[in-house]
Amino acid sequence: TGHTSLDYGFVNTAATKSAITYIDGDEGILRYRGYPIEQLAQGSTYLEVAWLLLYGNLPTADQLGDWDDKIRHHTLLHEDLKRFFSSLPHTAHPMSVLSAATAALSTYYEGQSDPNNPEHVELNTIRLLAKLPVIAAYAHKKSIGQAFLYPDNTLSFVDNFLKLNFGNLAEVYQVNPVTSRALERLLILHEDHEQNASTSTVRLVGSTGANQFSSISAGINALYGPLHGGANEAVLDMLARIRDSGESVERFVERVKNKEDGVKLMGFGHRVYKNYDPRAKLVKESADEVLTELGVHDPLLDLAKELEEIALNDDYFRERRLYPNVDFYTGVIYKAMGFPTRMFTPLFAIGRLPGWLAHWTEMQNDPQTKIGRPQQLYVGSGARDYPGAS
Ligand code: CMC
Repeated sequence: TGHTSLDYGFVNTAATKSAITYIDGDEGILRYRGYPIEQLAQGSTYLEVAWLLLYGNLPTADQLGDWDDKIRHHTLLHEDLKRFFSSLPHTAHPMSVLSAATAALSTYYEGQSDPNNPEHVELNTIRLLAKLPVIAAYAHKKSIGQAFLYPDNTLSFVDNFLKLNFGNLAEVYQVNPVTSRALERLLILHEDHEQNASTSTVRLVGSTGANQFSSISAGINALYGPLHGGANEAVLDMLARIRDSGESVERFVERVKNKEDGVKLMGFGHRVYKNYDPRAKLVKESADEVLTELGVHDPLLDLAKELEEIALNDDYFRERRLYPNVDFYTGVIYKAMGFPTRMFTPLFAIGRLPGWLAHWTEMQNDPQTKIGRPQQLYVGSGARDYPGAS
């Protein structure tokens, strides 16, 4: 058709206008609603940034207090939904559990999930922000065979989540301010990244009129893949494999350059950043700080730094402008906090949830929105007759 241009991977095609996040990939700049990521990571909280993304400006102290309070009081999962977890194998990957349980969440709110009803949308925004971390923590608990804990609404968003994961001895469990602040920072860094694959998925699903639960569940599935959010898990697996195999870092990099068995340097490269990912810079600083403060020495962090150093000085990576992305250093921090590798991508999902919700809402409120429906160039067979047909 004369109007269709072919664009594999949407490298050149904008599907929407958006006022939420600005990225300059050449300069390595990232801003949410105009605020530099560095400033938000320093002083803000996950929920404050979530409000900013959703509503366009920072909340007043009263708005934030009220919202935070509501989110604390929407954390409980229906007891029936808790039983849903027991129908899945304990070996299930927490990302699969997360997307399945998020889709299942919608069954409790049928009749209260009309995308055109602003009260429903606001309430389900709160429900999702409150319950996704609980679901993720239960996916973790299930995978290690421990009991689910009740959320504690006296705790902050981040502390509640940490306690749900690690507070199996609730009476001796102590909030650790170092871990709390580090996790808050990491979540902020993940909150939005404009039209990445999972956000585009949320928009595409939402453009059909699907509700927030269905759209977000689809986003979680899109995030799962190793080229997207699954990269944080893949980085740690890669580092552990190099360590365990005894292969030198130089030799591993050679194999990446030769594209042997399709091996890639996970946590490197980005569709938009052709410069150091500004988030990776902040994560790298955090990795040093957090491991030092927690008194952890992890040889995998040294290995990651060695890999980065070699790659940044190598022509293959220079010519292609491949730099560490947000996923390169997060895993060593999550590991030091006590999360198993398979929880890394669920942590990304919790981080990205506000962005997904903000984009879903922006799309919903945009009068220009149409159902998403890409074109194709047909290259198949011409018309032919089924045997015996006349
Ligand atoms: N290791 C080795 N070579 C790479 C890598 C890598 N990580 N990334 C890109 N390249 C090469 C690629 O093979 C190609 O080389 P050539 O021109 O010889 O064919 C060239 O660089 C251009 O890459 P591309 O595949 O066209 O780039 P893209 O924009 O389509 O893909 C990407 C971006 C992020 C999928 C890719 O860089 C990648 O697979 N990285 C590893 C996975 C990863 O870390 N993903 C996390 C992304 S950031 C956070 C998130 O979204 O979750």
